[in-house]
Amino acid sequence: MMKPVRVAIFASGTGSNAEALIKKMQSLGSAVEFVFSDKPAAGVLAKAHALNTKTYVIEKSQGRAHHEQEVLRLLFEHKVDWVLLAGYMRLLSADFLKKLAGRHEGHSQVVNIHPSLLPAYPGKDSLERAFADKVEQSGVTLHLVDEGMDTGAVLKQVAIPLKGFNVFGDFKASIHRLEHQIYTEFLEQIVTGQIATHSFKETIEC
Ligand code: GAR
Repeated sequence: MMKPVRVAIFASGTGSNAEALIKKMQSLGSAVEFVFSDKPAAGVLAKAHALNTKTYVIEKSQGRAHHEQEVLRLLFEHKVDWVLLAGYMRLLSADFLKKLAGRHEGHSQVVNIHPSLLPAYPGKDSLERAFADKVEQSGVTLHLVDEGMDTGAVLKQVAIPLKGFNVFGDFKASIHRLEHQIYTEFLEQIVTGQIATHSFKETIEC
């Protein structure tokens, strides 16, 4: 039998993607290890609790290095295989990513979803900016995480034509639906082994 895959979700905001991921994991007969947030008031925490999912909050109080060390400790304690960023609005340092990859035979298993056709509109308020610019098409990008802002290798990209959306709310809702679909499909591929997982190693080889 396949070893269960251990997934953690990082989120700073409302948590609609996190909610969709938790539900997908449960529908596959498994569970998300935990949801981590850097924001104690983030809506994602209530959504996770409502779905019986463990949550952790670590605020950045003593600088980035200390914060990342605490977050890594959490990931290592739970032997997490994959980290899925779902509206986590903080960059991860090269050092953090390297230490994490070191536990997975050098493979980066940190993924992010972003509401634009990267490299267009990285960072915050991507939807608002694309809509204001009246771009012909927008979309969603699933990508591996590096230390840059929404810059890692693209895993999947799906476009949506903007034509037909007069109301920003409708456009936003469509993008969110697409995000949930792409992210939950990806999660299913991980859990079912269609995408290989390099399991967490207790010790790293020198
Ligand atoms: C999502 O649209 C996600 O793609 C975006 O934040 C939103 C979070 O929504 N992430 C980024 O912009 C990352 N740069 P949610 O809290 O409802 O999942």
